[in-house]
Amino acid sequence: MAVSPRRSGVPPSASGRTRHDPLLGAAHVALAAFWGLTATLRRRRPRPGGDRTQTLEIAERRVVARDQDVVALTLVNPQRGELPPWFPGAHIDVHLPSGRVRQYSLNGDPRVRDAYRIAVRRIPTGGGGSTEVHDALVVGSTVTTSGPRNAFPLSVPGFGSPARRFRFLAGGIGITPILPMLHEAERLGVDWSMVYTGRSRDSLPFLDDVLAFGDRVEIRTDDEAGLPTADDLLGACPDGTSVYACGPAAMLTAVRSRLAGRRHVELHFERFAAPPVVDGQPFSACIASTGDVVDVGADETLLAALRRSRVAVPYSCQQGFCGTCRTGVLGGEVDHRDTLLTDPERAAGAMLVCVSRSTERITLDL
Ligand code: FES
Repeated sequence: MAVSPRRSGVPPSASGRTRHDPLLGAAHVALAAFWGLTATLRRRRPRPGGDRTQTLEIAERRVVARDQDVVALTLVNPQRGELPPWFPGAHIDVHLPSGRVRQYSLNGDPRVRDAYRIAVRRIPTGGGGSTEVHDALVVGSTVTTSGPRNAFPLSVPGFGSPARRFRFLAGGIGITPILPMLHEAERLGVDWSMVYTGRSRDSLPFLDDVLAFGDRVEIRTDDEAGLPTADDLLGACPDGTSVYACGPAAMLTAVRSRLAGRRHVELHFERFAAPPVVDGQPFSACIASTGDVVDVGADETLLAALRRSRVAVPYSCQQGFCGTCRTGVLGGEVDHRDTLLTDPERAAGAMLVCVSRSTERITLDL
């Protein structure tokens, strides 16, 4: 693989921060204004992942957890050209042969410009995406991808972040966005430490890669030490720490609760799956093409209710950032809870049904 002589550079933004950076805020306002001015020039229903859709070839496939359940795939341009650049925390959308779209973090080296690497844990009881990756994506096969995009960017101290050190927390397959961050922190000379958790050492992907960082990393598995508490995960966590966490919901909830009120500690996190509904109220959605009405419970997402009622809606991230579940709204007020749609897009009647909801009856263009 070709490695750029330049280091990967400084990540461009810091969404997901718990504190606001004034410069980034100004940039966000400018970008939002530009986006609004150009809205009519863009397609109303862009393909998820933007325009950088490309067909990539599986060049290498490697089992990266001792329990055999995690496979790492290296994807290259079949013409062996350079691929779009990315920064730690980025992911690509993988459009599987079945039509499923799934997001996978890029976990290789951003300086390698002619290959991406993703890793996927087989989840037999999941929605079928991971099983399809394991069974269908063999060396030499091709797959359509889009992106990269970054919903979990690393904000580097001195370059958009007032933090002075990193604390990385990874649970199992949550190591995938974190791994490039460790290398970036090393390259930049930023002080950092990490706790890597999971059921057992055999279940931890890339364990040898992580162990190579030595004393900075604590491996803490449930079978040896029990479930970690927030204090186990965060350690001393002095003011000036930026915490980056990716793992199961219980881990993220514990860390978020523990850091509540810590104004001088930044928390950035990425989930595996849909976040729980907070402050939801029951509402209903009318399907315009059939007249059917779907009732949505207070603690249920609209996407879950539609799927329960066998109304077909594409989806992927279930967290309001990929845009796959974008749906037109013909009537009713929407409580937008996503992080993707612009105000003009919302005003034009778009909603992301995986996270956004309502308090009344809405009519969907389905
Ligand atoms: S499924 Fe990704 S935004 Fe809804």
